This record gives sequence, structure tokens and C-alpha cells, in this order.
Amino acid sequence: MIETGRLLLRQPTEADVAAPPAWLSDPEVMDWLGGIEPPAEVVRLWLEQWERFPTGKFLVERRSDRALVGRVGANYYDVETWQRSPAGEPELGWALAREHWGNGYATEAALAVREWLRAPRLVSLIAPGNARSQRVAERLGARPEQTVALPGHGPHLVWVHPR
Ligand SMILES: CC(C)(COP(=O)(O)OP(=O)(O)OC[C@H]1O[C@@H](n2cnc3c(N)ncnc32)[C@H](O)[C@@H]1OP(=O)(O)O)[C@@H](O)C(=O)NCCC(=O)NCCS
Repeated sequence: MIETGRLLLRQPTEADVAAPPAWLSDPEVMDWLGGIEPPAEVVRLWLEQWERFPTGKFLVERRSDRALVGRVGANYYDVETWQRSPAGEPELGWALAREHWGNGYATEAALAVREWLRAPRLVSLIAPGNARSQRVAERLGARPEQTVALPGHGPHLVWVHPR
């Protein structure tokens, strides 16, 4: 569990598999994440990631009313092939329910996870057309370094976070 000024970050649980976050069914959010998949299966995958990989994705709740605003956390990639690998490097990602965009929650949560991870090298993979996500990376002080072909997801910019 991680706390910030406005947010509480927690690991997903079986209860979230039973009642998946509504944004997993929202194309405006999911089109940037490879499209809509069955929500319960997505949450099940998050649980498995926490088992198989060094860390995983946190669900982000607003402390004032416990509203579920999004998810922020790490994937792990082999940086030669850009396939997921538990022995790979962490990649920090974020997504918020549409009604919670524009409040700085993604940046606030990502800063907290970045501090918590303490990774020697941390990147974020962002599609070139995803302007809102690129602004989050900029606010975090990350810099675009190269474009890579993310298998199944097309070209993505590799944003490198400050050490
Ligand atoms: C990418 C995504 C998380 C960005 O959400 P966001 O709300 O724009 O980002 P933040 O939470 O950092 O909020 C920043 C915005 O809140 C505003 N804001 C308001 N109050 C703020 C505060 N207290 N602190 C910081 N920013 C604040 C900022 O000005 C900024 O708005 P602007 O970009 O219009 O200038 C969101 O668009 C999303 O979920 N997209 C779909 C999924 C996705 O693309 N994920 C990333 C894949 S790489």
C-alpha cells in the first residue's frame, strides 16, 4: 500500500476480479491500451503479474471518498525484444477512468510508484499519438529516447525517467 496526498495505491484482489473497474469497458480509455478485453480476465492477469513479476500494477483510489480512479504500476520487458519478461527492466504505465482525467492523479500516483520502485533504469512506453500520456511523462521529467516496435501494439516511444 502506498499513500500520497490525495491517493491510496493498493494491490488488486479477488474482489476486483469479481467487480472489475468500469474503465476496462470504456473504449476512450482502452483504445490506447490495445482495446477492450474481458474485464475480469484483465484483472486476473494483474493478480498473476504480482505473482510472476517483481512487482505489478496498483489500483489507485482517491482517499477522500475511496473512488477507484485508475491504475498505475510496472510491466517488465526484455529491452532487446520488447517482450514481457520477469527478468527484464521495469516500465511504468498509467490509466485513469475518463471522469478522473484532468486532476493530476496519474502524475501524482506515478511519482509515488517511481519512488517506491527505486529502479536503476525506468522507462515508459507511449504511442506517438497519445498526447495526454506524453504530457504525464513530461511532467515526470522523462525524456523520449527512441522508437521501438512493441509486439502487437505497433511503434512506441521509449520515455526514460530521470534517475
Ligand atoms: C494518460 C492519462 C492517464 C492522462 O490523464 P491526465 O488526467 O491527463 O493526467 P494527470 O492525471 O497527470 O493530470 C494532468 C492534467 O490535470 C491537470 N491538473 C489539475 N489539477 C492538477 C493538480 N493538482 N496537479 C497536477 N495536474 C493537475 C493538469 O493541468 C493536466 O491537464 P492538461 O494536460 O490538460 O494540462 C489518461 O488520459 C488516460 O487514462 N488515457 C487512456 C489510457 C492511456 O492512454 N494510458 C497510457 C498508455 S501509455
